[in-house]
Amino acid sequence: MSKWVIITLFFTAHDLVCRGQDSVDQPLREKTSAEGNQVTLQCNYTLMSSANAYLFWYKQQLNRSPTFILSNFSIGKGTTEPEFKERFHSKLDSTLGTIPLTIQDVCVSDSAVYY
Ligand SMILES: *[C@@H]1O[C@H](CO)[C@@H](O)[C@H](O)[C@H]1NC(C)=O
Ligand SMILES: *[C@@H]1O[C@H](CO)[C@@H](O)[C@H](O)[C@H]1NC(C)=O
Repeated sequence: MSKWVIITLFFTAHDLVCRGQDSVDQPLREKTSAEGNQVTLQCNYTLMSSANAYLFWYKQQLNRSPTFILSNFSIGKGTTEPEFKERFHSKLDSTLGTIPLTIQDVCVSDSAVYY
């Protein structure tokens, strides 16, 4: 029997990231996947106040504070926390304005809110 992973995305980015008119948009609210699959969480961003994007992905589990997963920048390299390095990736495309988060081989402990 396969186990299910539930991933929720939050539109909190306006509060947390917004500077000037910058915004990010995560069109999908919730995603369910069987364990072992690859999951991609879409995220688009729009920049108004600056040409350089500085974007961060966080994970928050129930009753816990958010954990930093990774950052990526349109100029320079981002960083990924060691515990997420193996399975979490996020390619920033500054032409399209996208920074999807890809989780490989998802497991039940990946069930969380991501933003
Ligand atoms: C950031 O995005 C680039 C592609 O634009 C990718 O090659 C690189 O691995 C990403 N960095 C991180 C830390 O995920
Ligand atoms: C996000 O970007 C992708 C790739 O450019 C595009 O196909 C999609 O329509 C965009 N979604 C939103 C909500 O802007």
